[in-house]
Amino acid sequence: MDSENIIVIDGQEFTFTQEETILQVAQRNGFDIPTLCFLKGAIPTGACRICVVEVEGATNLVASCSTAATPGMVVKTETQRVVRDRRTNIELLLASGFHNCLVQDLDMDSWTDFQLKSMEPKEHQGLCPAYGNCVLQDLAVRYQVKLSHFAPAETKYPIENVNPFIVRDFSRCVLCGRCVQACNEIQVNNVITFDLKGAESKIITKGDRTLKDSNCVFCGECVQACPVGALVPKDDFLEGQTPEEENRVRTTCTYCGVGCQLYLHVKENRVTKVTGVEDVGPNYGKLCVKGRFGYDFINHPARLKTPLIRENGELREASWDEALKVVSDKFSGIKGDVGPDAIGVLSSARITNEENYLAQKFTRGVIGTNSIDHCARL
Ligand code: FES
Repeated sequence: MDSENIIVIDGQEFTFTQEETILQVAQRNGFDIPTLCFLKGAIPTGACRICVVEVEGATNLVASCSTAATPGMVVKTETQRVVRDRRTNIELLLASGFHNCLVQDLDMDSWTDFQLKSMEPKEHQGLCPAYGNCVLQDLAVRYQVKLSHFAPAETKYPIENVNPFIVRDFSRCVLCGRCVQACNEIQVNNVITFDLKGAESKIITKGDRTLKDSNCVFCGECVQACPVGALVPKDDFLEGQTPEEENRVRTTCTYCGVGCQLYLHVKENRVTKVTGVEDVGPNYGKLCVKGRFGYDFINHPARLKTPLIRENGELREASWDEALKVVSDKFSGIKGDVGPDAIGVLSSARITNEENYLAQKFTRGVIGTNSIDHCARL
């Protein structure tokens, strides 16, 4: 460590490594500098200026997420000037769309025309689907910003609700760019980008098509990155949000052998949403379309809950013990009659490593044959 690489944050000295930003040094040392547009793993854009800090000798406040730490830098993270600036930026963001969550507990007489208007669309009459899980809402609460003094932006684009997974509510987009970075830099799908047209700016797909008609693979990385209610899973949009009733259960995805870490969001004993676990391998928050959206089967009424045994052409429910005994008897019969090589086992690249290990162990050790292969489509 170069002893000259010392930075002072709120009166304390810290070392830093080359290319570390002020934000990285601060976070590493336990400082809570708020961020909104900053997306871990992507190149900081400095777009929202929520993370501004005061740097001695600098005329303007600097965005800590995109400013490199330099030797001898003296940083103050929460001065009056910083707080005032953050409050202004929060107000601007609140005015950039239909963000009405913070006024819902105020007397309607104190609502502005904008607040009333923002409630007009039928999709906005309940709580925002991101309520309780919104970075902008958290910031507004932290800095006690309820109403914006700025003229609110008109929403030019209708809600896009034409695919089975993701709803795009442009009226709630703050153009932070996290979804674009998630799509292009994290998942490298390159489906969405900025269409910068001043007040009519929008995040678009190629040709400004709907996601359904674009190259989107519905990995949902953009949804996970969205800090507001602009991109939400369809189920959240349809059912509304009551986060206080929701439990998060961490588990491993069962769709393939990669072992992605995910959270099942559970409400009234039903899985209502899946999100990736950030900061943990192997997926570091990323999921594929199946891992993120393929959970309907869990509560599907047609889901098989017991083994079925076919008798006289009809299927009947059976216990696991009974079903396993039938399979075991049949295998033993075949093995006894014509030998173990008459039996083959097809495993799958779509199950876990442990399950594949068990399958080959069973095939070789119990059945007594080397006839095991896999089928990628199983
Ligand atoms: Fe740094 Fe947005 S978080 S500018």
